[in-house]
Amino acid sequence: MTAAAIPHIPADRLPALLRAMPKAELHIHIEGSLEPELIFELSRRNGVAIPYASVEDLRRAYAFTDLQSFLDIYYAGASVLVTAQDFHDMAWAYFLRARADNVVHAELFFDPQTHTARGVAMGTVIDGLHRACERARSELGISSALILCFLRHLSEAEAFDTLEEALPYRDKFIGVGLDSSEVGHPPEKFARVYARCRTLGLHLVAHAGEEGPPTYIRTALDLLQVERIDHGVQAIHDPELMQRLARERIPLTVCPLSNLKLCVYPSLAQHQLKALLDAGLAVTVNSDDPAYFGGYIADNFVEVAAATGLSAQQCWQLAANSFEASFVDEATKAGWRDQLDACFARFG
Ligand code: HPA
Ligand code: ZN
Repeated sequence: MTAAAIPHIPADRLPALLRAMPKAELHIHIEGSLEPELIFELSRRNGVAIPYASVEDLRRAYAFTDLQSFLDIYYAGASVLVTAQDFHDMAWAYFLRARADNVVHAELFFDPQTHTARGVAMGTVIDGLHRACERARSELGISSALILCFLRHLSEAEAFDTLEEALPYRDKFIGVGLDSSEVGHPPEKFARVYARCRTLGLHLVAHAGEEGPPTYIRTALDLLQVERIDHGVQAIHDPELMQRLARERIPLTVCPLSNLKLCVYPSLAQHQLKALLDAGLAVTVNSDDPAYFGGYIADNFVEVAAATGLSAQQCWQLAANSFEASFVDEATKAGWRDQLDACFARFG
């Protein structure tokens, strides 16, 4: 099927189709899938105190004004993760939600520095997450991979140290990313780290243009040589960059509910997803930190489609883009595309 051959889908059937259609999730911080209930359970299990009286008290704190106001709570929440079993349980809970949303493939970000700084060993983090990934494949039929993210508010030297610490587990992650506080920490700060990662054959992605300027997207492409841009929505302010992203089919992993909750847009109706798609960019829809932003991937699809008036054709394109942008072989992508087409045919 091509986008032009999408059958007519009645508008009232679109939400069900968006939930049912097979999709890949390419921008999910696994620590951002930690629900308040599990935070409290792990807090008790590990005897790690958290400064909130109850699940409700914690949830009430999820009123963010910008990226940093979220990150402060996100790092506090992650402090209850101690054992490999904890990391497994967190990722397994995500995979169960992903299956409910018909995610067939997920590439998970993890932030090792958040844990190694507290004395948790790199091997503990990676082994726990890897075990959940293997279990998702065998018990749920979901394929997945891990992407190690460097915290950009920390130094280049700390990123190099983290990479060295992770190398004994090189076979358990497929790439590296760059996250945390964007403004003031431009991509070029990590150009030498990324150059080393490139020689190791790792896939390269980076957050750019979430709150930061379009320049950060350019330097992520030119100086870090990333294959995908995470967020990237600020590209809309730079027509020449937009043309380049479209021409080179550089995927953007867009996260609508994240952008809403972190006040990148005042309302979902003002989100620029449709404009990015209309300009021919390889846009995908993702959840970012679903436990904090009020929805998993299918909620992101349903809410942004309703708020911005996406057509069935555009919804098909978003799912097709998620497969195109994933780090898997072409035959696997083609199989998922066939599943996607069969799903649209069923709803048509
Ligand atoms: N941006 C930057 N860093 C992050 C995010 C995000 O949306 N989520 C978790 N770490
Ligand atoms: Zn993110």
